[in-house]
Amino acid sequence: MLQPRRSPARSVLGSLALIAVVIGGTAAAFAYTAGWLSPERLTPTRLVGAFTPPGGTPPLGHRRNHAKGICFTGIFESNGAGAALSQAQVFSRGEYPVLGRFNLGTPNPDAADATVRVRGIGLRIATPDGQEWRSAMIDPPFFPVSTPQAFYEMLIASGSKEANAMKAFAAAHPEFAAFEAWAGSAPWTGSYAEERFNSLNSFIFVDASGAEHVVRWSILPAAQPVPIAKDELAKRGPDYLEQEITERVRGAPQRWTMVVTVANPGDPTADPTKAWPEDRRTVEVGTLIVQQIQAERDGPCRDINFDPTVLPSGMRTSDDPFPAARSAAYRRSYDLRTAEAKDYPRTVSDKKP
Ligand code: HEM
Repeated sequence: MLQPRRSPARSVLGSLALIAVVIGGTAAAFAYTAGWLSPERLTPTRLVGAFTPPGGTPPLGHRRNHAKGICFTGIFESNGAGAALSQAQVFSRGEYPVLGRFNLGTPNPDAADATVRVRGIGLRIATPDGQEWRSAMIDPPFFPVSTPQAFYEMLIASGSKEANAMKAFAAAHPEFAAFEAWAGSAPWTGSYAEERFNSLNSFIFVDASGAEHVVRWSILPAAQPVPIAKDELAKRGPDYLEQEITERVRGAPQRWTMVVTVANPGDPTADPTKAWPEDRRTVEVGTLIVQQIQAERDGPCRDINFDPTVLPSGMRTSDDPFPAARSAAYRRSYDLRTAEAKDYPRTVSDKKP
């Protein structure tokens, strides 16, 4: 059947209207994503911006949190036991290369070690099937807050000039008290090698039969933790931890056992302030072996994002709201710091001779 022909003027107008709708729609989508249409919405920009107190400038070129750290390489020696929980290749018995980074939970890359309570580790374990398991863990046994929104409010309160801001935050978030108690009483150690690191967020492992298991994981140090007073750590120097781990790994590889904890039905899976009871099933799945300390500024950790949602098939995120919020925030931080590379210049030229 023949279509009635439209006049050329009407079809030009129609095309212009269509272009306007597409451009308007795209602009609206950008405005929504940037949070301009809803100034109260928690966006990655706002979340990452909250690490910098009002009026301050972040140290350019650095991670916006956990900015101080030291890179390493090593292997994950899988013992095969994790295959009962997940079909990911990383749980088949074997050795897989690891890139990792010990770090301190501070936005200040020059912070003195004894001023930072939370220590962390970033890990990337690669497998021959081309997949990766990225993870970023910390040493407290639970997180200070239950939701990304509360984390944002905590950052705003801690950066506030109001004398009572943190008091008011703690009063509005009773779950924060347990973390405060841990921070005030847990012993400090003088080595990253003596720390236990915990995923805190829960994830889902899918086994070969398709069955799902809600899990958290930790790495437990082979080295015996030796408690040390904070003042004694301060006396050893502001960068003692990276000097110590460099010497220690030069002397011998350092090991951690990776343990996966499986939730019972009904355990809180969406709230990292709530540790699961001690009697939950645990599976030792292998050993992390740190073999070589790598340069921080010029080394392989500089341009990696230890995004906790980069998971191999056989693992996925759960109803825990943190990994998605973290992924968006880490990406924002990564985009900022890589664009600022000239403010944190490499000491070794990467130009090929
Ligand atoms: C909403 C909550 C959180 C926010 C907004 C946040 C934000 C950030 C940011 C911006 C970075 C720097 C990323 C980069 O530039 O590569 C970072 C790094 C890190 N975060 Fe978080 N984080 C959150 C929760 C957590 C949790 C729950 C953990 C551990 C259980 C954690 C552990 C770490 C570690 C270990 C690093 C350092 C990774 C590295 O060496 O690159 N964070 N975080």
